[in-house]
Amino acid sequence: MDKLQIHGGIALEGEVRISGAKNATLPILAACLLADGPVIVSNVPHLQDVTTMIELLGRMGVSVTVDERMRVEVDASTIREYFAPYELVKTMRASILVLGPLLARFGEADVSLPGGCAIGARPVNIHVAGLQAMGADIHIENGYIKARASRLKGARIVLETVTVTGTENLMMAAALAEGQTVLENAAREPEVVDLALFLNAMGARIRGAGGDKIVIDGVERLHGTAYEVLPDRIETGTYLVAAAITGGHIRVKNTRPEHLDAVTGKLQEAGATIATGENWIEVDMHRRRPRAVDIRTAPYPAFPTDMQAQFAALNTVASGVGTIIETVFENRFMHMLEMRRMGAEIRLEGNTAIIKGVERLTAAPVMATDLRASASLILAALVAEGRTEIERIYHIDRGYEAIEEKFQALGAKIRRTPG
Ligand code: EPZ
Repeated sequence: MDKLQIHGGIALEGEVRISGAKNATLPILAACLLADGPVIVSNVPHLQDVTTMIELLGRMGVSVTVDERMRVEVDASTIREYFAPYELVKTMRASILVLGPLLARFGEADVSLPGGCAIGARPVNIHVAGLQAMGADIHIENGYIKARASRLKGARIVLETVTVTGTENLMMAAALAEGQTVLENAAREPEVVDLALFLNAMGARIRGAGGDKIVIDGVERLHGTAYEVLPDRIETGTYLVAAAITGGHIRVKNTRPEHLDAVTGKLQEAGATIATGENWIEVDMHRRRPRAVDIRTAPYPAFPTDMQAQFAALNTVASGVGTIIETVFENRFMHMLEMRRMGAEIRLEGNTAIIKGVERLTAAPVMATDLRASASLILAALVAEGRTEIERIYHIDRGYEAIEEKFQALGAKIRRTPG
């Protein structure tokens, strides 16, 4: 398996262009199942998870073509089965996003239960309960969600926990249901908004996305369209922290500053100067050591759990003590154990990590455990003394497009070695 080798100690300088958002691309590709004509999705990031979703659609008989600029054309009219197999779903839990569209458009879906993952149990009970409230007949058999519905009916659904893909699955199902659906306690993430904009471009009637109450008036059919995916705010935040942790000065282009208020606010607390334009963010750390910050993750617009590991890395070399409280997932601290091997001083107490910054981390062989943890190990390696080797970087390839090229363009000494 490939590894990454990184020599630490270089302050990053220059510009980096952000790719399309993974967590908007995945539900949007699934939503193409709802259209009765071809759909063109552009600004799609070249990521393993996107390849997996394309393979899943292809397995069902959906026609998917990808051009050299990663514009994806999807035509669901050739679909021949409504089945998401365990062998694919176990590699990418977001495959659950085909459940709502299959049920709403074709009246049936057999989708493998995603199972847990490194960061938590990741149940899908809210997805299932919401579809049952819309009249679906669903039972779990041999690890599969077997769902049937002649026609889904609109319902008022209160989501017991704020769930991003739960909101997305139910919004897609409601788009073709009979009557009106109201989702209360809905997720407010920008990726949910992007999906709603995409569905409306296909003729859906969705109001309120971005707030915690979304109203969907079901329609008879959805037509094809062309749509450009929004930029990835987590990729953006990762490069902003990379500049801050190395004392550097970079500009992140092709992004949406308004989606990163919680993140840029914390970087300013850490001592960074932040400037923003319509589609760019500039961070300058003035070669200074960051100050420790306190983080508490929560659903958007609060501080994103997907940026927690990156700020843990920042705190390991910051001046002072920073605490990190993870409230979304129950086991998202594995990166802390790897950073300890690099000399970080971290104490874990349940869902709280207390990090006392040290002057320098030291290089050590470390192992990636999940997507965002992997990114945080790169950040730690960028400031560690010596050459750090990161194993199992397939986790990184799931969510960061051309990561070593983008870091090399910022001056980092990073290269991939075949494992
Ligand atoms: C989405 O996952 C993202 N993935 C995750 O990004 C992200 O970390 C997460 O939202 C939180 O922002 C995609 O969008 C593809 P949730 P999702 O349902 O939807 C509980 C990354 O790194 N819950 O919002 O699976 C759940 O256990 C990935 O790109 C239920 O209890 O997360 C968790 O505690 C990692 N029952 C909380 O809700 C359910 O039916 C939030 O999970 C569903 C969720």
